[in-house]
Amino acid sequence: MKGGVTLFACICAAATESEVRHCVRSGARSVEEIGDACGAGSGCGSCLNTLDVLLVTTSAPTDLDGLAASA
Ligand code: FES
Repeated sequence: MKGGVTLFACICAAATESEVRHCVRSGARSVEEIGDACGAGSGCGSCLNTLDVLLVTTSAPTDLDGLAASA
């Protein structure tokens, strides 16, 4: 058995960070949409900042295309 750590983004919904990132990659564009997709954030609300960070970091561009070059 391989060891590993499961990181829960939302304890109330038992939603892992991986599941939340999957929701964002599948189209969720707000914390509310993440909640609609997997239930995360729909309980006590203590994870909302974490969901916000996962939303931003998962949907951020992965390259620098489109950025203006500076002199
Ligand atoms: S920990 Fe996410 S709603 Fe409670």
